[in-house]
Amino acid sequence: MNDRIIVPLDVESPAAAQGIMDLLGPDTTFYKVGLELYTASGPGFVSSLSAQEKEVFLDLKLHDIPNTVAGAVERAADLGVRFLTVHGTGGPRMIEAAARAASGRLTLLAVTVLTSLDRAELSRVWGREVDSVEAEVVRIARSSTEAGAGGIVCSPREARAVSEAIPSGSEVVTPGVRFRDDALDDQRRVSTPAEAFRSGATRLVMGRPITRASDPAAAFQRAVEEGRSAMAGAS
Ligand code: C5P
Repeated sequence: MNDRIIVPLDVESPAAAQGIMDLLGPDTTFYKVGLELYTASGPGFVSSLSAQEKEVFLDLKLHDIPNTVAGAVERAADLGVRFLTVHGTGGPRMIEAAARAASGRLTLLAVTVLTSLDRAELSRVWGREVDSVEAEVVRIARSSTEAGAGGIVCSPREARAVSEAIPSGSEVVTPGVRFRDDALDDQRRVSTPAEAFRSGATRLVMGRPITRASDPAAAFQRAVEEGRSAMAGAS
């Protein structure tokens, strides 16, 4: 269960990231490295996580022509990354090329519609009236997994519809998770760990409720326990 709670290292330097890892200790085994830390620290830091036997979710949200994305996927696989994000809107040929390049060495997670986009902005960007953002999320989730993505990143509120639309056994990874008594920070629509798992999430990305807790290791254990109870209740 511990590897179902992924902690993002949303910090500016390898030293700050190591500080979070030291606070969390050996029970936390899966970390997300996003654009800020990767830009600051590069592939060497990702390799150092693998060398410490931590699993890495490299959240680079790749979106480029198929050949370019395929090359980046191969290099990420060489670093020992377990999850890597690509944009589902890069199209089936981009995802097929990425999946061929991964050749089972890592799992590609597709991002569908960024949660920062609302219906009006999406309609403007795509040049057509979007009736339902969730319908677009489900449509892109389906086409991405058909093209070879092994899972989807989505909000917990979309997890049920997404998990019902994609092959069983696919990953459904959800950020936007808060304990019942937490501050929302900049997240608007959130779910608790138990709610997210009950909705079909296979793993959670949970940052500030853990990293900014007075006892981060205890907060991590609380998320694990909530997940364990939710999974037991669901089976
Ligand atoms: O601290 P918090 O739990 O809000 O961190 C959530 C993590 O998930 C951050 O790394 C954030 O960038 C990422 N994320 C998100 N919402 C999305 C996609 C990614 O919060 N829709």
